[in-house]
Amino acid sequence: MKTENIYVEIQEAIATVFINRPKSLNALNAATINELHTAFQELDSNREVRVILLTGSGDKAFVAGADIKEFSSFDSEKGKELAALGQEKLFDFVENLSTPVIALVNGFALGGGLELAMSAHIRIASESAKMGLPEVTLGLIPGYGGTQRLAQLVGKGRALEMILSAQMISAERAFEIGLVNHVVSSEELVNFGSKLASKIARNSSTAISNAIQAVNAGFNKDGFQAEIHAFGSCFDTPDFKEGTQAFMEKRKPKFT
Ligand code: CAA
Repeated sequence: MKTENIYVEIQEAIATVFINRPKSLNALNAATINELHTAFQELDSNREVRVILLTGSGDKAFVAGADIKEFSSFDSEKGKELAALGQEKLFDFVENLSTPVIALVNGFALGGGLELAMSAHIRIASESAKMGLPEVTLGLIPGYGGTQRLAQLVGKGRALEMILSAQMISAERAFEIGLVNHVVSSEELVNFGSKLASKIARNSSTAISNAIQAVNAGFNKDGFQAEIHAFGSCFDTPDFKEGTQAFMEKRKPKFT
């Protein structure tokens, strides 16, 4: 299966979804989010597919975030819509899929890219991967569930340090704090992910889907709505205009 921005390979019980916009470091524009939604929906209803691997094409990025160029002219209403729709179509959708999803983080996973990896059920990173939530450098906050899922995975203090400092962390550090489950060499990433997927694929798919639901049920959903509102309100600020302009002009932002 191949569409404009993604392609899917299926081998026996394991499907691999590749995000395929390497020139934009696989940034998530609206079209890519829609294509991913359709692909995940189809794979989840395909009884042959027991596990889904998700990765970025090219050797540089898993996903470098939401597409900044696409939303730089948005106001707060459109900002809220962007976050709400993205969460519904992709991030919540992946987290609540019956079929387990393993993110193979093969390079930069920033902003919406790390948020996508965190929506997956398991994360494996290559040694060269770099992860972070750099939204505050754009006058924004994470809007695809990052404020919630990062705190769930690594604890509130570490999540706040990453979000407020916008610093990227290495794969090794991500492993230390529990953000990724394994770190392997780039060459081994797909093979390691496939082996883990094969182990999962032998187990009862009904029990697996129930386990995902039960684990997800333990987390409070109110924070996601709060995030959508806070994310949207950033769009009407001078800092957002300055942050996104500075990114596109390849300079450092000057915030108020
Ligand atoms: N959106 C749109 N385009 C992007 C992008 C993004 N998130 N990330 C990279 N690109 C584009 C660049 O603009 C550049 O395009 P041109 O060749 O047309 O100039 C191309 O991809 C290659 O990127 P760089 O030249 O910047 O590559 P680099 O190696 O110098 O830097 C990087 C790599 C550090 C990842 C840098 O690209 C970067 O900082 N990207 C943005 C990361 C970011 O801020 N992500 C958060 C987005 S906001 C978000 O995700 C909101 C949310 O939660 C909903």
